[in-house]
Amino acid sequence: MRFCPSRQAFWILLAVSRHGMAKIAVSGRESGQIPEEISFLIMLTNLNLSSNQLIGKIPNQIGDLKQLESLDLSCNELTGEIPSGLSDLTSLSYLNLSYNNLSGAIPSGRQLQTLDSQIDIYIGNLGLCGYPLSKNCSTSTTGAGQSVGHEDADHVVPLYLGMCIGFVVGLWTVFFTMLTRRAWVIAYFQIIDKLYDKVYVRVVIAWARMMKKTHDGAA
Ligand SMILES: *[C@@H]1O[C@H](CO)[C@@H](O)[C@H](O)[C@H]1NC(C)=O
Ligand SMILES: *[C@@H]1O[C@H](CO)[C@@H](O)[C@H](O)[C@H]1NC(C)=O
Ligand SMILES: *[C@@H]1O[C@H](CO)[C@@H](O)[C@H](O)[C@H]1NC(C)=O
Ligand SMILES: *[C@@H]1O[C@H](CO)[C@@H](O)[C@H](O)[C@H]1NC(C)=O
Repeated sequence: MRFCPSRQAFWILLAVSRHGMAKIAVSGRESGQIPEEISFLIMLTNLNLSSNQLIGKIPNQIGDLKQLESLDLSCNELTGEIPSGLSDLTSLSYLNLSYNNLSGAIPSGRQLQTLDSQIDIYIGNLGLCGYPLSKNCSTSTTGAGQSVGHEDADHVVPLYLGMCIGFVVGLWTVFFTMLTRRAWVIAYFQIIDKLYDKVYVRVVIAWARMMKKTHDGAA
């Protein structure tokens, strides 16, 4: 049963795309939880954390990412319930929670019910129940309040590290484009050269005229 792509290798975080929209693609070697601080990235439109060995719960704060259009959390080891905050994401048009270990009732918010291929979204999570799955939720819900203790400090660091790396990557992208697009660099320097030539020539002519005048005047 290998539906999941092989594990991704690096933390990458691209902050702002050409169209001014924030995109993030984070992948890591370490397994960790999705930090609650993810909700700070309010401009985020695409979040792909697929195949990252993520553990723990999906933070309810994910509901603060109002711009989010696509969310791919497939192929991790996420547990617990799907937070009801997810159904607040009115821009969301793609969601994939498949192949995790989620459990409990699927939130009944409007937004989640309008997504396409609804059953695919939840496939590979044996504990889930409720619409659109055929499995009914039993009235006695179990295991909701597991101990979630030490989370915060551990996972802020990866987030900020990711941001730093993203910044550096962004800078490099610009720099690298300059390096690779030699044509741009050449054009740039040609313009500078031409400007310099023009200015230089004018200065020399002006200088010569001035010298001539002073000479004539002296003569
Ligand atoms: C969700 O992710 C799994 C694993 O990456 C993939 O096999 C499946 O096609 C995806 N589902 C949708 C609806 O894109
Ligand atoms: C997320 O990343 C995985 C692995 O790189 C890829 O297979 C999947 O299609 C991506 N999901 C989206 C929604 O782009
Ligand atoms: C899923 O979670 C349950 C407890 O919530 C655990 O017993 C089980 O081993 C987990 N399964 C996988 C495949 O991680
Ligand atoms: C689920 O519940 C509905 C009524 O709420 C019932 O009609 C249906 O047979 C139940 N399905 C299963 C698989 O228990």
